[in-house]
Amino acid sequence: MANVCILGGGFIGRFYAESLIGRRSKDSVTVVYSRSEDTVNRFAKDYKVGNVYTDMESAVLDPAAEIVIIALPNYLHEEAVMLCVKHKKAVLCTKPLGRTAQEALRMMEACEKAGIFSGYLEDLCYTPKFLKSLKSVKDGAIGRVLWAKSRETHPGPHADWFWDLEAAGGGAIVDMGCHCIEISRNFIGKDIKPIEVMCWADTQVKPIEAEDHAIGLVKYENGAIGQFEVSWTFRGGMDLRDEVMGSEGTIWVNSWLRTGFEMFTSGEGNGGYLVEKSESDNGWQFPVGDEAHELGYTNMFIDMFTAYEEGSAPQESFYDGYVVNAVIDAAYKSAKTKQWEPIDLKVWRGKEGVTKPSVFQEYDADHWFIKNETLPNGDKVTIVKDKVTGKTKKITN
Ligand SMILES: NC(=O)c1ccc[n+]([C@@H]2O[C@H](COP(=O)([O-])OP(=O)(O)OC[C@H]3O[C@@H](n4cnc5c(N)ncnc54)[C@H](O)[C@@H]3O)[C@@H](O)[C@H]2O)c1
Repeated sequence: MANVCILGGGFIGRFYAESLIGRRSKDSVTVVYSRSEDTVNRFAKDYKVGNVYTDMESAVLDPAAEIVIIALPNYLHEEAVMLCVKHKKAVLCTKPLGRTAQEALRMMEACEKAGIFSGYLEDLCYTPKFLKSLKSVKDGAIGRVLWAKSRETHPGPHADWFWDLEAAGGGAIVDMGCHCIEISRNFIGKDIKPIEVMCWADTQVKPIEAEDHAIGLVKYENGAIGQFEVSWTFRGGMDLRDEVMGSEGTIWVNSWLRTGFEMFTSGEGNGGYLVEKSESDNGWQFPVGDEAHELGYTNMFIDMFTAYEEGSAPQESFYDGYVVNAVIDAAYKSAKTKQWEPIDLKVWRGKEGVTKPSVFQEYDADHWFIKNETLPNGDKVTIVKDKVTGKTKKITN
């Protein structure tokens, strides 16, 4: 059983509290910090939290704070992590870990040096659909992963600081690209080095300095390609979709819209909150049964607290947060230079020197195999390539 301190009583802090205490949980939220009296008192009342602070360090220092969860704006993550390091408290930090890889690296190294438990709260790598897909990929169901694409788009975040370049560290890329990059990285293999990024980013709609829309490609050392698509300009709710293409199969996951729960409302009843980032309260709606679970928060905290109790590493660590920040840094560079930009990983703990597998598969002594197909007329054909001349030919079996 763990006593939890949540720093930040806003949007994500409330989601975390819902998933921590929403079930018959062994864990309890005992301490909360927020800078405003109103927010912290409302949070404490809603989630029955006894120890309430408007001073961050006092909250971290409270003996009832065993594990500290950071649910603060991006520009406060490092400061909050360093307080946990100073007072030797286990720390879990929301995404993105840092605004830059430099910030993330400092946080990771400080925690490792202090010997405190740390975990990266990347919830979208814990959704039930993601975990099931990942297991199938790891079990070999789709063969070798060639391309892993992840999309998060919605009409933009709910709080002012997200829209401030300095406070957030960027726009849609740092806010949502962090999810997409880590999703693709899990499918491709966390031990495979991401080497370079090509990214398009633009500010198409909102009057902000950061990008409100971006698409990026992340090249991995084994030849696989990751793709992220992020936008704060999308209309129609929140679109969370992943696609994985392998040499032997395909996975398509839709996590938020069209999940099988469809509801019509005229909007003339009492309405109210329906689902995250829903744009309307009438017409056809696509709610989600258990938001905290479908967004991965429940599985994420089970993994984090189990790892904490067992003294093992969680599935998503500060190191993973650091790698993601390094990819994001390269994406921002590429969006400016319009070139493939190398990913600067000062710390790399995966495989080195992995090469792209050969595309040559033997058909017979003289030919390479290309493909089999059954045609509309019933013929079964094989396409092969001559090993010497390089000419392709069709063999009807
Ligand atoms: N899926 C996810 O994992 C997910 C979703 C949303 C947000 N987040 C992350 O959670 C973090 C917080 O986002 P949010 O949506 O909860 O934001 P929010 O603005 O709703 O809440 C942030 C909290 O921090 C407090 N705060 C703001 N500025 C502060 C300051 N200068 N000093 C002290 N406290 C301050 C606010 O009062 C509030 O309690 C961000 O890093 C964001 O990226 C993660």
